[in-house]
Amino acid sequence: MKNHTKKYFERLYGEGQGARRPAIGGKALATDLGYPRQVVEAVPGALWEDFLPCGDVFPYVRPRDGDRVLNLGSGAGVDSLALRLAGGFRGGIVNADIVFSVLEKASRTVRQAFPGLRFDWICADGEELPFAPGAFRWVIVNGVLSLCPDKEKLASGLGRVLEEGGILAGADLCRKGPLPDYFREEPDAWAWCMTGALSRAELESLFHTAGFRGLEWISEPMDEFFDRVVFVYRKR
Ligand SMILES: C[S@@+](CC[C@H](N)C(=O)[O-])C[C@H]1O[C@@H](n2cnc3c(N)ncnc32)[C@H](O)[C@@H]1O
Repeated sequence: MKNHTKKYFERLYGEGQGARRPAIGGKALATDLGYPRQVVEAVPGALWEDFLPCGDVFPYVRPRDGDRVLNLGSGAGVDSLALRLAGGFRGGIVNADIVFSVLEKASRTVRQAFPGLRFDWICADGEELPFAPGAFRWVIVNGVLSLCPDKEKLASGLGRVLEEGGILAGADLCRKGPLPDYFREEPDAWAWCMTGALSRAELESLFHTAGFRGLEWISEPMDEFFDRVVFVYRKR
């Protein structure tokens, strides 16, 4: 499943050939989700093309300048830009994604549009995080948890790379109940954050077991099967 998801995003971020895009995206989606106006207006078009979040985590990520932030499954890195442009954050931010091409394209666009504004861009699998224990004070996971087949491995890895008291802020889809078979029969539905989505109880249990304590839970109905959720956890 991970291979299919990776290939799906490679196609989507490439020419878009053969990968079905969400009906609403870019600035319209950012505005709908409540991204700060400053961000909506400043982000270049080339980044909006690859903007695929499940929610707006910006209000819950408040790093101080000495902190380090990991944006895992960053895609084009719009959440990281929000921290710089609207949050005024000047500390270290690592944008990590399993798809190289999106990092390559986004890093080029950011360099051209915002000379002097720096991120680290790392191609990595969230289930095999290549970072030292306690390397980050903050982790963002926007639309990534549902995509990972081994969620226990992802959650324990996030617990490892966060320092004590560090904060995980995520957004995703949550399943309201059992899903009809057609989600499993449509392989792309995994890449749409649907087939691999957890219920709220499963998500809470996953992070409690991995050593996190819940801080915030914001939920909005999306359709008959899913809620859009933003969740915030602190490493105990
Ligand atoms: C739904 S998109 C969200 C992108 C971005 N967070 C945003 O808000 O635009 C999911 C992203 O996670 C990446 N991804 C999927 N599986 C991953 C994994 N195992 N490790 C790291 N990144 C992954 C995809 O390549 C894609 O860029």
